[in-house]
Amino acid sequence: MVAGRQQNGEVLLVLTGAGISADSGVATFRGPDGLWEGHRVEDVATPEAFARDPALVHAFYDARRARLGAVEPNAAHHALARLERDWPGEFLLVTQNVDDLHERAGSRHLIHMHGELKSGWCRACDARMPWDGPMGTSAVCPACRGAGQVRPDIVWFGEMPYAMDRIEEALSRCTLFASIGTSGAVYPAAGFVQTARYVGARTIELNLDPSQGSIFFHQTRLGRASKIVPAWVEELLA
Ligand code: APR
Repeated sequence: MVAGRQQNGEVLLVLTGAGISADSGVATFRGPDGLWEGHRVEDVATPEAFARDPALVHAFYDARRARLGAVEPNAAHHALARLERDWPGEFLLVTQNVDDLHERAGSRHLIHMHGELKSGWCRACDARMPWDGPMGTSAVCPACRGAGQVRPDIVWFGEMPYAMDRIEEALSRCTLFASIGTSGAVYPAAGFVQTARYVGARTIELNLDPSQGSIFFHQTRLGRASKIVPAWVEELLA
């Protein structure tokens, strides 16, 4: 599962959501300027939507992939990469985000539970491949050479998030659980805090506004991720 110098017996699991990338200029999903304000989830983020109107769905994800070239990791992403390097215990970062800002900041023990914008998935041969630039409806799979079968490697509503076995295993042993920049609106991620509580972990939420599951956390710190995450990491490593 996890990295770390494994000296203090602590198992730290950090969950991130769109709020951690907001200070980098990546739109969140919910809220006044959220992505879902301009789109109905059912039109762009379900397998049914893709079957009905693949061009629309590709255009939505192609635009978001293109946007990645214009944004950079912020202080919160960098702080989590430092935490992974310097934490004297086990560490796992689970993100709901499909951007690549955590890895660009240096995080390595990272699970993208909702997939990745820079990955394609061929429905003909089941291969997954790195993807840069637009995908569109006629993309050719580099593995099987089939055309028009590659879809964004994104977990849509109604689909199973990735690596749930690894995440559940880490959750079952975690001693500290932190949730950063997520509204707690989407399961299973929204339920991780309750599992962490059940196994006796300390739990902390760092977010701009209290999340829907705020009452389940021992501690809540409100503010912009780029400010409060580096401060929290500083405290943890002190
Ligand atoms: N710093 C910290 N938190 C912020 C910031 C910021 N600068 N800006 C916004 N937030 C908080 C908001 O208060 C909100 O609680 O980030 C959260 C973002 O919530 P959502 O937009 O719902 O994003 P997320 O929780 O990641 O969504 C979960 O929903 O649609 C799906 O698959 C998509 O992975 C996504 C999932």
